[in-house]
Amino acid sequence: MKDLHQQLHQQANQHPDEFWAQAAQSIAWQKTWDKVLDSDNAPMYQWFSGAELNTCYNAVDRHVAQGRGNQVAIQYVSPVTDTEYGITYEELQAQVSRLAGFMAQRGVKKGDRVVIYMPMIPETAYAMLACARLGAIHSVVFGGFAANELATRIDDAKPTMILSASCGIEPSGVVAYKPLLDEALQQAQHQVSSCVVLNRPQYTAELLPGRDWDWQSCVAAASHIDCVSVSATDPLYVLYTSGTTGQPKGVVRDNGGHAVALSWSMKHIYDIEAGDTFWAASDVGWVVGHSYIVYGPLLVGATTLLYEGKPVGTPDPGAFWRTIAKYNVKSFFTAPTAIRAIKRDDPTGEYIKTVDLSCLKNLFLAGERCDPDTLYWAQEQLQKPVIDHWWQTETGWPVAANMMGTAPVEIKAGSPALPVPGYDVQVVDEMGEQVAANESGNVVIKLPLPPGTLATLWGNEARYKDSYLSMYPGFYLTGDAGYMDEDGYLYIMSRIDDIINVAGHRLSTGRFEEVLCQHDAVAEAAVIGVDDKLKGQVPLGLVVLKKGVHLTDEQLYKELIALVREQIGPVAAFRLVSAVQKLPKTRSGKILRGTMRKIADNQAFNMPATIEDPQTLDLVRNALTRMGYADAHV
Ligand code: COA
Ligand code: AMP
Repeated sequence: MKDLHQQLHQQANQHPDEFWAQAAQSIAWQKTWDKVLDSDNAPMYQWFSGAELNTCYNAVDRHVAQGRGNQVAIQYVSPVTDTEYGITYEELQAQVSRLAGFMAQRGVKKGDRVVIYMPMIPETAYAMLACARLGAIHSVVFGGFAANELATRIDDAKPTMILSASCGIEPSGVVAYKPLLDEALQQAQHQVSSCVVLNRPQYTAELLPGRDWDWQSCVAAASHIDCVSVSATDPLYVLYTSGTTGQPKGVVRDNGGHAVALSWSMKHIYDIEAGDTFWAASDVGWVVGHSYIVYGPLLVGATTLLYEGKPVGTPDPGAFWRTIAKYNVKSFFTAPTAIRAIKRDDPTGEYIKTVDLSCLKNLFLAGERCDPDTLYWAQEQLQKPVIDHWWQTETGWPVAANMMGTAPVEIKAGSPALPVPGYDVQVVDEMGEQVAANESGNVVIKLPLPPGTLATLWGNEARYKDSYLSMYPGFYLTGDAGYMDEDGYLYIMSRIDDIINVAGHRLSTGRFEEVLCQHDAVAEAAVIGVDDKLKGQVPLGLVVLKKGVHLTDEQLYKELIALVREQIGPVAAFRLVSAVQKLPKTRSGKILRGTMRKIADNQAFNMPATIEDPQTLDLVRNALTRMGYADAHV
């Protein structure tokens, strides 16, 4: 089927207007476009300019109108609360239109931002869809982030309203969200006049009269409201993701291109159509949750499974497989980390043997590099195609994948397969020249990017151009390095910047360093991602102390770990820190993080020609060895 894949790829690249106009037939438009691809303001390309639609209408109302009202739209499975129920499209429409009605009553209108800080419950999807219904722009903040990170995002997005819940439930216990929200609102410069809070039975939050509204009673009393027509190019959402500095990047997604691209990907990549059940075991706080828990499956009239639990420990490593069998899941998507966790706890797949997985056609993996061992284990245990695919928050949907719905190709371990139609992916050297097959370089995508990819960064077009478009004019810089083999298969090997990937979660080492430097004892800090068997990478901090610090190492490290947890959140998984006398730097003062990472992971490295003081590498190696890394000298 490689020929078919290539044929589709060629069609999309050579005739993007025709290709995407055809794909756009799957969407209900209130007004069709003037231009499919609008290059008037290049490199700020737009898709379907002049068109109007409503994303919520396409994801909910039209399925009710077309007779799918009784089909389950969202199947909620929550092992942490022992709750499972389905919400039909008709019920979803009622919930969303009433919530939107209440939001409108409180003054939320088209173009306003609404921050959503919620756990993995159906109401989070209602919240996103209610924003889409009103043409308001949602910005979901992942629940594992601390108050300070929430405050940063509130100040950048400047929301009219915040939607939240009293708590999330983690294996470690109930995580109270409302106190974090209150603290974030205290820290933020931007003032928010309304917060709608869903009180869950596990923790009752106090509501501040005049500002906070009780979700259940307000929604019950609200009237339904209809979908508002928006421009295809109007933003649907802003999703913050880690950049190289502590200030996160607000990725802006439009309405029209997003709906078209996601619908196309559901069928062609994930092999999902109306009536099928799809499950992405991620979190709505990440792009996977936006694209493939909420919008993608609903846009095509499928059933989406929304899971509040973990791959292991809630209660055992069989949870995924039982859920797939019970709810007839056809395609399942998770991160390699989750499979590694299951493999660790159930190495011989005993739990897999207890269920009938005949419903499952494909397992999709993304979010981090999929190591071949994990792929082989899953293939062997499941006896199903295991599909590694590669994409980013910025692209919103897969850049390289095996298109299981139309043109499956040979699976090669370690590769997310071929560039998807619409993406002209190239591997280039520092000068922007394409490198030969199997040679490593920077992975770039020729502009224009296809529909559904980022339009800009919220309120910061200059940063968008600077971060992604300036290094190689005419190309989008993915920030990933890798190579293509002689068959055109892509291999994504590492980041070229200071972003690390911890259990499929993208984090900025720059942000960790900022936080460590807030401690009174710390003069300077460097954070690197080191290899971890379970999480892929974990952060490791090296700090240089100010003169005259009298804390014991143990006390200092405890305080630093607590500080990171308090400032960034538990998701940072920061547990490794050590003091060093001096950090390795170039003569111009740049910290040699790449070299430190190689020492930590026992990889060969060349002594950097520009190093200021070679002895600093020995200091670092000693510290890393004490922490259980860098055990073999190179
Ligand atoms: N709200 C509040 N806290 C959260 C949270 C949320 N939504 N999500 C995670 N946390 C907390 C966890 O409770 C944990 O806190 P702890 O330090 O008190 O134990 C911490 O953040 C780290 O969580 P997590 O990354 O889930 O690690 P873990 O060690 O608890 O579990 C795995 C390990 C592998 C099971 C888990 O990382 C996992 O399921 N990974 C898959 C990731 C994934 O799907 N990524 C999406 C990208 S596609
Ligand atoms: P995020 O924006 O959080 O989705 O993270 C995107 C980054 O995760 C990418 O730029 C890659 O560095 C990494 N990534 C995601 N999927 C893969 C994959 N299949 N293979 C290798 N790296 C991946």
